[in-house]
Amino acid sequence: LAAKKQHDVVVIGGGPGGYVAAIKAAQLGFDTACVEKRGRLGGTCLNVGCIPSKALLNNSHLYHQMKSDAKNRGIDVKGSVEINVEQFQKAKDTVVKQLTGGIEMLFKKNGVTYYNGNGSFEGEHSIKVTPVEGVEGTVKEESILEAKNIIVATGSEVTPFPGVTIDEERIVSSTGALSLKEIPKRLAIIGGGIIGLEMGSVYSRIGSKVTVVEFLPKIGASMDGEVATSTQKFLKKQGLDFKLNTKVISAERKGEVVQIAVENAKNGKQETIEADVLLVAIGRRPYVQGLNAEKIGLEVDKKGRLVIDENFSSKHSHIKVIGDVTFGPMLAHKAEEEGIAAAEILKTGHGHVNYNNIPSVMYSHPEVAWVGKTEEQLKEAGIKYKVGKFPFIANSRAKTNLDTEGFVKIIIDAETERLLGAHIIGPNAGEMIAEAGLALEYGASAEDVSRTCHAHPTLSEAFKEACLAAFDKPINF
Ligand code: FAD
Ligand code: NAI
Repeated sequence: LAAKKQHDVVVIGGGPGGYVAAIKAAQLGFDTACVEKRGRLGGTCLNVGCIPSKALLNNSHLYHQMKSDAKNRGIDVKGSVEINVEQFQKAKDTVVKQLTGGIEMLFKKNGVTYYNGNGSFEGEHSIKVTPVEGVEGTVKEESILEAKNIIVATGSEVTPFPGVTIDEERIVSSTGALSLKEIPKRLAIIGGGIIGLEMGSVYSRIGSKVTVVEFLPKIGASMDGEVATSTQKFLKKQGLDFKLNTKVISAERKGEVVQIAVENAKNGKQETIEADVLLVAIGRRPYVQGLNAEKIGLEVDKKGRLVIDENFSSKHSHIKVIGDVTFGPMLAHKAEEEGIAAAEILKTGHGHVNYNNIPSVMYSHPEVAWVGKTEEQLKEAGIKYKVGKFPFIANSRAKTNLDTEGFVKIIIDAETERLLGAHIIGPNAGEMIAEAGLALEYGASAEDVSRTCHAHPTLSEAFKEACLAAFDKPINF
């Protein structure tokens, strides 16, 4: 008979949603446990997502700068600048290991019990933990956790492309693309969304000829239309090729090459693209395998998402669901916010996430970041708005840094002049978007921001000037 243990809260999944929920629940005084099956905490984000991709993005950017831009800056590189693929990968692996290990420390510090195994529903209040074959440190035997409350945070997985077999060698998902042992001469990518563009940036910088095939007329998934067009322009300048309005018909590995048959959706013209590696990046889907959610009748919608109400409750109010496995954007910080809110709801009955204020960042160079409404959304909703723009070419710090691509675009309500959205292409846009988030959260007007003293010379002055431009006139442009 399996051993039984009791906890106030059991969290299933140790990604950004689950681990944050577990820490918060423990901090709120609950006896909390977290069940994770991959052998390392941190989920997709820390292991095969946000963190490793940003390590490769940062280091490929440095390489590219040294190779193509150092001379301009008065830095003469004697000898050649080369990528050492093994070390390039190792630098990434080291940071992943440090950060995932760090969560184990945080669990200890906050008194969260960690079960390294698979969690599945046995009943509405009981979770079975089972060992996972091949996973280091996995639990030795089955046990049953009795829980007053349960938080499901089992995340997402790569959406497969029908008929295309991912071998993680020549035909890869993002996971394989993060660990290639060689730099492919030709990299083809299905999907011009965030993964496609970030990984495309990495490999293009270190020497691959990158072709992105996207079936929509625009790249960048949920980006503002104008921003998406500018993004495509700067990526094209960096050497990425785009085939928009293009359908992939089939893709097959033939020895060491991959042949991809595509068709132009407008004129029906077909062609075959050859690549050394094909990355399939057409989105992610909720992951509930091994959870046995059926056993207690948890509802799933057409897209495979676990169904919840505005308090993250499934049909059983003591079972909350957060992160990629349920509604909303599949982003780590969204999952984290939900983790905090769900734990707070368990404690106090109240918890809140502002879904109108979840930033998105694409970590290309320059970065692309946005929060709040796009022009397209406002037009559709019939809301009158004004736009203020300021280009980085007119920002003294960007000029000093020889890094002037992009602009800040601010959208404000035509009447109240409160910020409705911010869309930035520029160096460190991902950091700058936090200021827009704060302004949105506190209902600031463009004038409020522009009357706030911003340090000089900083990139953030471009944000202030764009706000000024939205309701008055900018000073420096
Ligand atoms: P996950 O991180 O997927 O974690 C779920 C965990 O649950 C997994 O570790 C899984 O092993 C475990 N699990 C599942 N079922 C069970 C079970 N039955 N028992 C035990 N454990 C189980 N987001 C950003 O915000 N910024 C980025 O820069 C970014 N970059 C990304 C780059 C890539 C290449 C990818 C693929 C994703 C990226 N994301 C990024 C998205 C981000 O990784 C996810 O939104 C985030 O990880 C979701 O967190 P989560 O906790 O909901 O799920
Ligand atoms: P995505 O949803 O961002 O983009 C997928 C793209 O593929 C879309 O442009 C879509 O139109 C296109 N597409 C879909 N089917 C296609 C087909 N059959 N042929 C050609 N194109 C097709 O998904 P992606 O890039 O896979 O990323 C998954 C998720 O991971 C994102 O939604 C995002 O939430 C998260 N992520 C976040 C990052 C960040 O915050 N910096 C980085 C990477 C991923």
